[in-house]
Amino acid sequence: MSVWPFRTIIEPFRIKAVEPIPFLAQSERRTAIEAAGWNVFGLSADTVTIDLLTDSGTGAMSAAQWSALMQGDESYAGSRSFHRFEAAVRELTGYEFIFPVHQGRAAERIIARTLLGPGKVVLNNTHFDTTRANVEQSGSLALDLPVPEAANATSHARFKGDMDLAALETALDHHGDNVAMVFITMTNNAVGGQPVSMANVAGVSRLCRARNVPFFIDAARFAENAWFVQRDEPGWHDVPIKAIVRRAFDLADGCTMSAKKDGIVHIGGVLATRSAAQAERFRNELILGEGYPSYGGLAGRDLEAVAVGLMESMDEDYLRYRVRSTAYFAEGLEQAGIPVVQPPGGHAVYMDAGRLLSHLALDALPGASLAAAFYLYGGVRGVEVGTLMFPGARLELVRLAVPRRTYTQAHVDYVIEVAGHIAARAKDLPGMRIVRQPPFLRHFTATLEPTGHFPD
Ligand code: F0G
Repeated sequence: MSVWPFRTIIEPFRIKAVEPIPFLAQSERRTAIEAAGWNVFGLSADTVTIDLLTDSGTGAMSAAQWSALMQGDESYAGSRSFHRFEAAVRELTGYEFIFPVHQGRAAERIIARTLLGPGKVVLNNTHFDTTRANVEQSGSLALDLPVPEAANATSHARFKGDMDLAALETALDHHGDNVAMVFITMTNNAVGGQPVSMANVAGVSRLCRARNVPFFIDAARFAENAWFVQRDEPGWHDVPIKAIVRRAFDLADGCTMSAKKDGIVHIGGVLATRSAAQAERFRNELILGEGYPSYGGLAGRDLEAVAVGLMESMDEDYLRYRVRSTAYFAEGLEQAGIPVVQPPGGHAVYMDAGRLLSHLALDALPGASLAAAFYLYGGVRGVEVGTLMFPGARLELVRLAVPRRTYTQAHVDYVIEVAGHIAARAKDLPGMRIVRQPPFLRHFTATLEPTGHFPD
């Protein structure tokens, strides 16, 4: 770990290529959000000043990654770039059978179509929504087993991403041979990007190995998780990030990974396993949907960028900056008068719209109202994670995700200033009504309208 004697955490990079961002007048943004049916997914990105919709595929690649692109070997089979990709993933995970896929949900889909099916059960600390959708699409049951603290937005407890081990043991006993696999999603996106402790991964591993149940890691944010372990889990403070990452993978039997997060690439993913029998089935399914197993829906150049990005994301100066800057963002929002889910995770800040807009009932969609307000007043795009996304949701949140290496502290300070402007008007923000909605995954395409006027 390098020595940094000052309090200010600076971006651990300087900027070599820049991309202009648009600035619109509030009247122009009002026109744009009206045209989008008051749903931020409907906005053209050209009308968004600071885009915090997701941290997925939105990071800035390094000079090393851009130059690796030129090394891409576009051979259909057995390309040099595949061997580089495979070597990087094997160094990270130790797994024998490694497949590239075009993104995380492709790996999930391959698993769903080979290992799952009607009557089977999948246990997870909390399924990400694409994982759940793929499990359910196969006819299997997707059960979430988060620890109880995950439901408490104000508790500063560490490792709120953990799985409830007692509940896991009960579920394994209850569902017996029907349990097709167990997943740990690290970090646990759906409960606020909360990390998972190594003790918990070890506990899950023990229970699964005793019963011969395959245990996989959804490793989209493996490096951020390792940083929290090193910082907060007793016994891990002096262990290098790379060794922590490897230990987590050692405890499992395979992984899925969206490389669009901690792989810091615009597209890419991984499916890996120790089992030759699983690998055989994965390979055949992959050929049907993704392409040949040595490119998996990606160009050779993409494989090169993943190989470099996976290593860069474990850089400790980068991780310190990454996690500290998300915490800085959360502190600023709270000081501006916006309650946020505690403690802040690695990749995003989750604002508690239910508490901020307590004058609105849940069916008045306070989260959608707050998301619209961030766009209308500041050109900032976040995403509602509440009643609109998950009807019956327990918490009414808006997520501001932080793309990797993309925005500077000045951008974050600007969003915090916008938040203060909104907090001062919170009591006057109108509710939202659904005008039109599709039968499933309605948050992407529903159109809304405010039930009152957004104040100036
Ligand atoms: N698993 C987790 C934990 C994720 O956060 C995501 C994507 C996926 C799997 C699916 O990966 O998008 O590459 O197919 N999360 C993004 C987000 C979309 O905004 O949180 P993908």
